[in-house]
Amino acid sequence: SEPLRIGIAGLGTVGASVARILADKAATLTAQCGRGIVVSGVSARDRSKDRGVDLSGAKWFDTPAEMAVSGEIDVFVELIGGEDGPALDGIRAALEAGRHVVTANKALLARHGVELAETSEDKGLILNYEAAVAGGIPVIKTMRESMAANTPSRVYGILNGTANYILTRMESDELSFEDCLAEAQRLGYAEADPTFDIEGQDTAHKLAILTSLAFGTKVASEEIYIEGISNISLGDIHAARELGYRIKLLGVAQRTATGIEQRVHPTMVPLGSMIGQVDRVTNAVAIEADTVGSLLLSGPGAGGDATASAVIGDIADIAKSHPGRQVAPVFGRAATELRPYERAE
Ligand code: HSE
Repeated sequence: SEPLRIGIAGLGTVGASVARILADKAATLTAQCGRGIVVSGVSARDRSKDRGVDLSGAKWFDTPAEMAVSGEIDVFVELIGGEDGPALDGIRAALEAGRHVVTANKALLARHGVELAETSEDKGLILNYEAAVAGGIPVIKTMRESMAANTPSRVYGILNGTANYILTRMESDELSFEDCLAEAQRLGYAEADPTFDIEGQDTAHKLAILTSLAFGTKVASEEIYIEGISNISLGDIHAARELGYRIKLLGVAQRTATGIEQRVHPTMVPLGSMIGQVDRVTNAVAIEADTVGSLLLSGPGAGGDATASAVIGDIADIAKSHPGRQVAPVFGRAATELRPYERAE
C-alpha cells in the first residue's frame, strides 16, 4: 500500500533523531506497519545545518503551517516546542486540513490540549503525544489502552530528566548545581528555557496530561501547586541521605474527598524505595489503581533517541491504523515466526 507521508516541523535534538531513526530502520518499520513511512516535508529555521541525516528527499517549507496544509503530507509531526507560536499554528492548521498529528509538546498540550483533542475527535483524526510525557516511557499508551478495568486513585512520578539528573549528580559527584545543569543541556535533556525544568513547570505540564488521562478530567495545568528544585542545596541532599531519604522532584495527582489534587515539589523519598533509586535522566511513573494494584514504569525521560522512540511509535500507530479505527500492535498475519531460542552454553 501507499507509504505514509510525514512532515517534521522542528529539527532539533528530537527531530533529527526521528529523521535518522526512520531512515536507519526503514525496512523493519515497513515490515511492522505494512507500509513505508517517508519524510516528505520538513520545516526548521536552519536549512544548512548538518544533522547527520539525508533530508534531500523532503520538501522544505518556510513555516510549519504551510507544510501542514500543503497536500504533501498525511501526518504533521510537531517537534518545535513552545506553547503557542508556530507549533500551535501548525497543529491547528494540520487538523483543519485533515492531517493526523503527532506531538512531543507537553507545554502546548497542557495549555491547548482540550481544544486540540476535541478538534481531532470531531474530524476523526488521530492526535498522538506519547513523547510529551516521560520521554521514552510508554505511559500514554498504558493509560489510554490498558487501564479500562481500573479507577486510578493516584498517579505520581519523576517526570523531568534534567531535574533528576541535577539532583543525582549533585549527590553522587558533588558537582555544583550549575555544572550539572550545563551537562544536562549538553546531553540534550533540558528545555530551550531550562527554568521550566528547574522550577517545575515542565513536570507540571506532564502531570496535567497524566491527570487528565488517569481521572478522565480535562487538562487543568493552572490548578497545580508548583515548587522547583532551585533552592535545594548539597547540604539538603546530604541531610536527607543521613535520614535515609533522597530528594526527588515529584509530580503527584490524587483523588481526594474534595477533588483531584495536583502538585509538584521536591519530596523526600525513602532510599530503599524503587522511586528512590531512579537516577540521572531516568523517569518513573507510578500508577495506583483498584484492579491492577500498583504499577511503576521507568525509563529514559529525555534525550533525542529515547524521545524519538516514542514519537516513531506514534507515527507507526497511524501507519497501521485504518480510517476510524486505531490498531494496537500486530499479533495477527503480519507477525513472523518466532525463531527457536538458542541458549548459550
Ligand atoms: N526537558 C525535559 C526533561 C525533556 O528534562 O525531562 C523531556 O520532556
